Amino acid sequence: MPAIAVIGGQWGDEGKGKVVDYVAEHSDVVVRFSGGDNAGHTVINQLGKFALHLVPSGIFSRRAVSIIGNGVVINPEVLLGEIDMLAKRGVDVSPGRLFISDRAHLIMPYHVILDELEETARGASAIGTTKKGIGPVFSDKIAREGIRVGDILDRRNFMEQLRAILDQKNTLLTCVYNAKPLSLVKIYEQYIEFGRRLQPYAAETTAILERALKDKKVVMLEGAQGTMLDPDFGTYPFATSSSPISGGACVGAGISPRAITRILGVFKAYCTRVGGGPFPTELTDEIGDEIRERAQEYGTTTGRPRRCGWFDAVAARFSNRVNGFTGMAITRFDILDTLESIKVCTAYTVGDKTITDFPASLALLGQCEPVYEELSGWKTSTCDVRRFADLPAPAKKYVNRLEELIGCTTNLICVGPERSQTIVKKPVI
Ligand code: GDP
Ligand code: IMO
Ligand code: MG
Repeated sequence: MPAIAVIGGQWGDEGKGKVVDYVAEHSDVVVRFSGGDNAGHTVINQLGKFALHLVPSGIFSRRAVSIIGNGVVINPEVLLGEIDMLAKRGVDVSPGRLFISDRAHLIMPYHVILDELEETARGASAIGTTKKGIGPVFSDKIAREGIRVGDILDRRNFMEQLRAILDQKNTLLTCVYNAKPLSLVKIYEQYIEFGRRLQPYAAETTAILERALKDKKVVMLEGAQGTMLDPDFGTYPFATSSSPISGGACVGAGISPRAITRILGVFKAYCTRVGGGPFPTELTDEIGDEIRERAQEYGTTTGRPRRCGWFDAVAARFSNRVNGFTGMAITRFDILDTLESIKVCTAYTVGDKTITDFPASLALLGQCEPVYEELSGWKTSTCDVRRFADLPAPAKKYVNRLEELIGCTTNLICVGPERSQTIVKKPVI
């Protein structure tokens, strides 16, 4: 069987956690391949409501084992807290059920501090990061100054490695930011203790994946963030620091592009964005407020209110282009149930020019005015609908129009946050 990538098609928070939890029932391995605890994936199932930041959303599946891949950056304190929380709530998260790549980079205390200091220094042009240390840890990874899971399992070498890096970081903290230096011994002891607890989970995860793929098991690659936050294709610099797209899944998990046969794009039935940066279809009026309140659009990781807007088919088409979706999941469909009419952005205009390609230039994007097509709402609850045929006619029309505009067929339509609130239009597997 194939590897299936589940990818955020917009600006994150599309409902990937819910979709992964649903598909994981039919999967053998679930792998997180990017981001860190900037992600917040909500899962609601028979065990309750969970907000996961690092542990894959497939952890609830009795069938699947979970892997935190090499492409994920790990704050060990957050991860161990999440493991403890899950164990306390009756989820089997023991070694053998969860594996962690020994190649994954670690978020260190200075990364979190520097994220905060850098954001403050940016002033009015702050990115609006989650302040989890994501930018600084990926900078260090690329600069070859990172510390990996495998490093804290080796007491002697870790001291020397940390001493050299911390010298530099303390110079940066004290001389550039006028902040306090950090204690070598304190971080060393803390991270050695984290290493002691993480050791039973650490593994050569590419070997586990190779075996699973050879044995024709179903491998699911769980994306974090969303395509429009990609450092290459997103609204850079208002982006995250690792690649959330389907190509990133190969690099972040350690599997061949040839192994991925299905790529499921997850799209909200409208759009949201949290943090700074351009958002052409943003609604700053009472409809935006209505959507936010009805959907409780507040960040799973930071609690910040999410900016809400109409579905942007220009961005979605671009997202499909760079990911090559084989199908999509449309989530939060029920949130539109109360609206009289629904708008979809089909193009942008700048002056008398029509733009149908999502621009790379933020200056140009800033001038873009959305061109809307208006469709009628259905004004009836879809929460209990389980078959596409049973959706009201305007709701079907909305799905069909999104398919046409994006150029992608629909696999799943989510009509509520619970696992069971899912319409299968076309099976994913
Ligand atoms: P993720 O980061 O992509 O996993 O998404 P988040 O968990 O951050 O945000 C998605 C939110 O939408 C969560 O609160 C989910 O419980 C909720 N959700 C997912 N699908 C649906 C749906 O179809 N309807 C409703 N009402 N909520 C949904
Ligand atoms: P999930 O996996 C939504 C956003 C931040 C900020 C930008 C950079 O839950 O969909 P970072 O902390 O990564 O340096 O912040 O990216 N961001 C997300 N927005 N969902 C996420 O993850 C996000 N992860 C990062 O708000 O704008
Ligand atoms: Mg989220």
